[in-house]
Amino acid sequence: MDDVERAIKDFVAEVLLEGEPVEFDEHTPLLEHRLIDSLNVEELLVYVEQTFSVSLSRWPHSDWKTIHAMAQLVHDHAPDGRQAPGEQPAAIVSDYEKWVAGYWNEKQNDPINLLLGEEDGLVHHHYGLGEYDPAVLTAPDQEDAIIRELHRLECAQMDVVLDALAPMTADQRLLDAGSGRGGGSFSAHRRFGCRADGITLSQYQVDFATKLAARHGCTDEVSFHLQNMTRTAFPDDHFDRIITNETTMYVELADAFAEFARVLKPGGRYVCVTYCVNDTLAPTSEACEAVDAHYGTRMHKRSEYLAALSAAGFSPSRVSVLNADTIPYWELRARSEHSTGVEKAFLDGYRSNVLQYVLIVADRLPA
Ligand SMILES: C[S@@+](CC[C@H](N)C(=O)[O-])C[C@H]1O[C@@H](n2cnc3c(N)ncnc32)[C@H](O)[C@@H]1O
Repeated sequence: MDDVERAIKDFVAEVLLEGEPVEFDEHTPLLEHRLIDSLNVEELLVYVEQTFSVSLSRWPHSDWKTIHAMAQLVHDHAPDGRQAPGEQPAAIVSDYEKWVAGYWNEKQNDPINLLLGEEDGLVHHHYGLGEYDPAVLTAPDQEDAIIRELHRLECAQMDVVLDALAPMTADQRLLDAGSGRGGGSFSAHRRFGCRADGITLSQYQVDFATKLAARHGCTDEVSFHLQNMTRTAFPDDHFDRIITNETTMYVELADAFAEFARVLKPGGRYVCVTYCVNDTLAPTSEACEAVDAHYGTRMHKRSEYLAALSAAGFSPSRVSVLNADTIPYWELRARSEHSTGVEKAFLDGYRSNVLQYVLIVADRLPA
């Protein structure tokens, strides 16, 4: 580590600790310590910019003077609502949260997601919507054609989510809660020019998506944080829109929706896509249990979504069941060499309607 890198690391730690003397092991929260130590100078600058919402790109980071200037800039521009690190709610506390974080941290070699996003840098961890082109099944490069088609369908799913978020303007803020490798945040920024903050329990995903933001040239507008959607570090009334795309199966709905009501502006909109138990038919089923067992999720009942939203002060304006639109995606995925074994459970569940793929749009009522 050269002197400049060490100095920037010390500086970041000092700013994070709000001026307290820096003793990494004693005072620096473990995660920040690990994060700072694992970053190179370029990544550190990106990290400082994103954490404090400032632009450092015009500063050559070559000497102490620059570092002091950075310190001044960061102190001057730190948003009022930012909490000191010691006060930040811990992202990962319960055994289940530790398990979820571990699951996504270890998922680093998953071709079904990585291959799909290889070309355009939009790596999604959700499923697809729409009919597939049957020509892919007889294409000479069949597997490549299937992968490209699956990606088209997952991008089509994202378009449905973006349509539900619209209209959004470039000066508005989106929270992408449970952001995975960032595909949703980047897609929203591309469509609307909006600022997007993605949060996930996986440090690996934060780092992965942060690197992609640099590749997409949008580090000033799209950033990723290790935060828990049930207790974020954002100020009240901070966001204009929130999305959860296939993430709410990991959280208590009452906790997440109460937090969304806090950070969303009155009149702001929340868009949720999730698979859930169709409890108008059965309280559970073999298919639902198989899906939960495969992913370690705790899927909720459809009625629980609607009740928890109302209790948190949201007014649902749309609930769409998308089973018919998602079944082709699962049929095609079952034909891929990269199928994971969960395809049959989804197909059985969606075809028999005991499992439902739903889109919910809800507006936050003024208090
Ligand atoms: C199936 S992936 C969906 C990713 C993304 N929304 C997409 O569409 O590509 C689930 C994500 O939820 C995140 N997650 C699970 N529980 C969470 C929590 N309590 N707070 C924040 N993120 C959470 C995981 O870390 C993971 O990134």
